[in-house]
Amino acid sequence: MISLTYDRIAPVYDILDKAYEVGWKRRLRRDVFAGLHGDILDAGAGTGCNMPFYPAGSRVVALDASAAMLRRARRRADSLGLDVDVRVGDLLATGFPDGHFDHVVATFVFCVLPEELQLPALRELARICKPGGTVRILDYCTPKSGPARLWTRTVAPWIGFVFSARHDAGYESCVAPAGLDLVESRHVFGDVVKQLTARPVRA
Ligand SMILES: C[S@@+](CC[C@H](N)C(=O)[O-])C[C@H]1O[C@@H](n2cnc3c(N)ncnc32)[C@H](O)[C@@H]1O
Repeated sequence: MISLTYDRIAPVYDILDKAYEVGWKRRLRRDVFAGLHGDILDAGAGTGCNMPFYPAGSRVVALDASAAMLRRARRRADSLGLDVDVRVGDLLATGFPDGHFDHVVATFVFCVLPEELQLPALRELARICKPGGTVRILDYCTPKSGPARLWTRTVAPWIGFVFSARHDAGYESCVAPAGLDLVESRHVFGDVVKQLTARPVRA
């Protein structure tokens, strides 16, 4: 169970990720929330690292399977003075009605989901996103370039052991089967991290 991994590492998550966070993740988080508005789901919100970039005036639900990660997210929201609906839940079965959110965002979440859950997770996020809304994913991908491949191979045992994460999650191939149109897919940190924007296919 992934929530057990994250319940265990919650007290040290931000410390372990600090170099990545300061070095490059913050810039990408800002970009992923740019231009969003209305009702937004931060799916797998963790300790709330995206919170500084929630658009002003939006109503955000920060959902995560790990109560321990969310306790930190709650504290972060309070310290930022943000009114965020922080709640424990499974992004595979969120319980929200169809088309509930204007935008659904998942950052560094698909990398921790097992391969067989990539499609069900994306289907659920597509289901709860309004027609005309967007699903945005920021996550690791399999690099093509030599140095990046070497780097991902080097850090793979560490991120696998500590974060239950990997660089080769197959979320992009699940976009169409999940009922989404891919609007944009681009590398945003070398060829190691991608930002995807997709829209629910109109019925
Ligand atoms: C690597 S952390 C990323 C957290 C945050 N999105 C960020 O960008 O820092 C992955 C998060 O996904 C959450 N998660 C994994 N599987 C989940 C599921 N099925 N439902 C909800 N949250 C889940 C974990 O508890 C963890 O907090």
